[in-house]
Order: sequence, then C-alpha cells, then structure tokens
Amino acid sequence: MTVEEKSASLAELRESCLSCHGCALADTRTNVVFGKGNPDADILFIGEAPGEKEDLSGQPFVGAAGKLLDKYLNFIELGLDDVYIANILKCRPPKNRDPLPEEQNACIGFLREQLKIIEPKAIICLGRIAAMRVIKPDFRITAEHGQWFEKGGYSIMAVYHPAALLRDPRKKTDMLNDFKEIERHIKK
Ligand code: URA
Repeated sequence: MTVEEKSASLAELRESCLSCHGCALADTRTNVVFGKGNPDADILFIGEAPGEKEDLSGQPFVGAAGKLLDKYLNFIELGLDDVYIANILKCRPPKNRDPLPEEQNACIGFLREQLKIIEPKAIICLGRIAAMRVIKPDFRITAEHGQWFEKGGYSIMAVYHPAALLRDPRKKTDMLNDFKEIERHIKK
C-alpha cells in the first residue's frame, strides 16, 4: 500500500472505531482514542488503554506517561513522524483499572487492522498488559523486557510502561538500555 492508501484505510478504520459499542466502555468514555503517528511507520508502540487525559483529548499518551515516552523516543532521535502509537483498548477503563479480558477481546480487532495497514517492521509493547496480549499470556515484564520475540512475521519487544518508571525511577536505566536496543535493531 502507498502512504496515501495507508492514511485513507486508517481514516476509514478510525471512523468505524469512533462509533464502536462493542463493550460497556462505550457508555463511560468521553472520546475514543484510536492512535496517532505516521501511517507508514516502521515501528509501532502499543500501550494499555487511555487514561484521563487521553480520554479527554482523544489522543494516546498525552499525559505524564506520554511525556516520558516522548523523552525516550527523542533519546533515540525518533518522533511522531517516525512511529505510530496505539493502545490495546481504545476506550478508558473507569479509574484506569486493568482492561478486562472481554474488553480486550472486543477491541483487539482494531489493533490487528491497524497493524495490517501500517505493516511496521517492529512492535514495542509498553508494559505488561500489552506484552501479555501481544507476545504471550505468561509474559514476565521484569525478566523479559528488552528481549526480541518473533511472532506473526513481526519482531516484537516489550519495555516497561512509562507510568511504571514514574512510580519507580530505578527502572530508568533498564528503559534506556532497551531503547538503545530498539535503536540498534531499526538502524541495522
Ligand atoms: N497509558 C497507556 O497505556 N496508554 C495511553 O494512551 C496513556 C497512558
């Protein structure tokens, strides 16, 4: 697909996502948070679910965790022109509780379609919830962050969720090393 075709397909998918009532989160959301970034990105980041700021703005990763994510992206000289950022859930769970399995099942088709359209070379899961859904159900973030997994034709890695770094700054060194590995992988 050309970049123009990818943009058009994503815009069409976004329209159907905006009117989704596939789970009960449709009743409590302010906005659907579809995704942002380059429709032709080589690298796609997957978070967990929108938080309060994302629900209010309709954009993923715009709160404190998002600002930290931007810093790590900048560190390896990447920005929104280079990457695409989406979430497992497109709607905010009340009080930011973990996404329920039925919510993930109702929503995951949108992410699959986003992947099919964007065709990234690498996928980076932000945190345990995305890694368990995308890599394997028994994923252990503390032990397995920073490692590449091959699945469905994609190279996939999980890193800590930036919100986890806000709670525990000792994880920042690991995060920096994982981003250096991402840089090495995409520049090879
Ligand atoms: N945390 C997430 O996992 N996703 C967002 O979009 C914002 C915070």
